[in-house]
Amino acid sequence: MIQSSSPHRFALHTAHTSYLLEVDPEGRLLHRYYGPRTGSCPPLASPHPDPGCWPDRLPQEFPTPGLGDNHAPFFALEWADGSRAADLCFAEADLCPGKYALPGLPAFFGEAPVQTLRITLRDPKGLAVTLLYAAFEDCDLITRAAILENTGSEPVTLQGLPSAVVDFTRKDLDLITLDGDWAAERTPFRAPVRPGVQSVGSVGGIPTHAHNPGIVLCTRDADETHGSCWGMALVYSGNFRLQTERTTAGIRFSAGIEPQGFCWTLAPGESFTTPELAMVYSDRGLGRMSRCFHDAVRRHLLRGRWRDLTAPRPVLLNSWEACYFDFTEDKLLTLARAAKQAGADLFVLDDGWFRGRNSDTTSLGDWTADPAKLPDGVAGLCRKINELGLDFGIWVEPEAISPDSDLFRNHPDWALQIPGRETLQIRHQYTLDFSRAEVREGIWQQLTALLDSCPVRYLKWDMNRSLANVWSAALPAQRQGEVFHRYLLGLYELQQRLIQRYPQLLLENCAGGGARFDLGMLYYSPQIWCSDNTDALDRLMIQYGTSFFYPPCVMGAHFSTVPNHITGRTASVEARMAAALSGTFGFELDLTRYTPEQLAELRPFVDFYRAHGALLRSGELWRLCPPDGSGAAWAIASGDGREAVVFGVGRVLDGRRLPLPFVRAEHRYHIQSRMTGRPSGDETLEGELLAVHGLPLPAIRGDLPGYLCYLQQEE
Ligand code: DGJ
Repeated sequence: MIQSSSPHRFALHTAHTSYLLEVDPEGRLLHRYYGPRTGSCPPLASPHPDPGCWPDRLPQEFPTPGLGDNHAPFFALEWADGSRAADLCFAEADLCPGKYALPGLPAFFGEAPVQTLRITLRDPKGLAVTLLYAAFEDCDLITRAAILENTGSEPVTLQGLPSAVVDFTRKDLDLITLDGDWAAERTPFRAPVRPGVQSVGSVGGIPTHAHNPGIVLCTRDADETHGSCWGMALVYSGNFRLQTERTTAGIRFSAGIEPQGFCWTLAPGESFTTPELAMVYSDRGLGRMSRCFHDAVRRHLLRGRWRDLTAPRPVLLNSWEACYFDFTEDKLLTLARAAKQAGADLFVLDDGWFRGRNSDTTSLGDWTADPAKLPDGVAGLCRKINELGLDFGIWVEPEAISPDSDLFRNHPDWALQIPGRETLQIRHQYTLDFSRAEVREGIWQQLTALLDSCPVRYLKWDMNRSLANVWSAALPAQRQGEVFHRYLLGLYELQQRLIQRYPQLLLENCAGGGARFDLGMLYYSPQIWCSDNTDALDRLMIQYGTSFFYPPCVMGAHFSTVPNHITGRTASVEARMAAALSGTFGFELDLTRYTPEQLAELRPFVDFYRAHGALLRSGELWRLCPPDGSGAAWAIASGDGREAVVFGVGRVLDGRRLPLPFVRAEHRYHIQSRMTGRPSGDETLEGELLAVHGLPLPAIRGDLPGYLCYLQQEE
């Protein structure tokens, strides 16, 4: 609910939180409060601070440069006369039912009771900034974005602009960022916010493996169940910056497109829309904050057929770790037969299927089958896979172009490149200039030819490098600062076309593992490949960090072989299954090496996923024991506490008790468990015992044991 108690006071309320704004007597829009739900908008504490220092002390909702606010500026602009100041004063506000949309950009959506507040600020020199707010009561989500419009008669150049700024009066907060590397994405890092500027971001055109566009600010005492947490995540998949600046006045948080490399000139009458920032406040720790984000993603961001969490997601087998580039059609069909025996629904042909692609050095951009590997083409393979009773899916990397490809030979100018400079190859490839409509159209024609040639039910859209040599032949020199963002708009447009034309298609995004795992991509694909690291122990940390903002049901997670191809580690079947079954489950190993008995042993896990898939996708995540390098425990429970799946891996299983905060103490629960090295068991336990003393876990030693159980309340 959004209220406006006077023309100058605004309060956004969700079920448990409030966000308050007020216009001061000078016409500046100030941030007053973001925290537990409150009744009204408190009056300004000191409306007229010392004129000598006041701009620094004012919690401005959209701080402007050049007029005495000496925070590190995020918003930077240049007028036609070379001046760089802006003075934005309140002009008007209006409230409307439903959620604002951001044309061309991914954004949360919702009908009433979701509401939108629009506040317009104006600079007399000719700039209108419309701040957009939406309050999602059901999941404690508040979103923000801004539209900047040139209302003057001369051009104005934007050199950096935030989607949102939030000022905190307290300074003693911790900052949690999700950082990492290839095969080690989104590992939480927590430290006190220190004086000065701290930021995470990207200049690589994708978020990259190094940082994720989501951060948490929290009180020092915050843990899974206690303390105040403010989670902030951008709905954007390109260059981003999330920044804190601690001064004597408090902490200023700013979020938006990374200003480095960004420059956008608005002619009179033109406007620019920022990406959206999603914010959740929780006074019950990180656990609740994450569950609110998960709900928000599932209810208000995922779209299309796969938004229905009760609709079964296919159990797939992906060919990558089984074959890499080395396969024949016969090998694929033998693999598919084994996958069918293990219980898979869908066979995914990963990289290596197109003309001449026998390594990563060639052929990206030539999206037709290699006759040496697929004599009857993709359609022929698809038909044979279908005859085995499996659906068919395929891998593409549409943004990429190999120097050794017909596409590059025919259209050398389609690659991002700076004239007169050698173009950087990463993984032996360049990137297509997706800011150009004709380049996207060329790829669209190839993609639709592929997808129309046979019933492709699943498409994996990969992106194996960051952008470099960012310069577009289609734009004049003074507009090259637009290329990064225009590239993203082009990517979003193409994926939008794709899901519109193929509404039944299950699209999974991927970027060399999880280098583009963000809320923006989730608007187009209901699942994203989490990491190339499929090692069960490493996955605990990767999926734990990912779960701060993103629900388990969007995390691509596959059961793979041992020793693991990346870490060499051997984990039990149960540990590998626990890690994979809590995401979007699939297989990624050479099942042709399995005996019929071994394949049959995998079936119960697939049956478990089928039986409890709706709960796993729609349930609430409880991080019971965060990963500590030797194991972890977590659960996915229905909101009413009637049923749950509990997972445990590693040392957690040393005969300890695991309190389950979601069970209802007054009920009894039937528990079916499965663990490494012991027979499956059934027992019935009191809810009170489970909640207070905890679920008794077995004492299991050995190579990374695993535990899974399904709990159901007795009627
Ligand atoms: C990177 C992906 O993360 C892998 O799963 C696989 O698809 C390879 N690319 C193929 O090149």
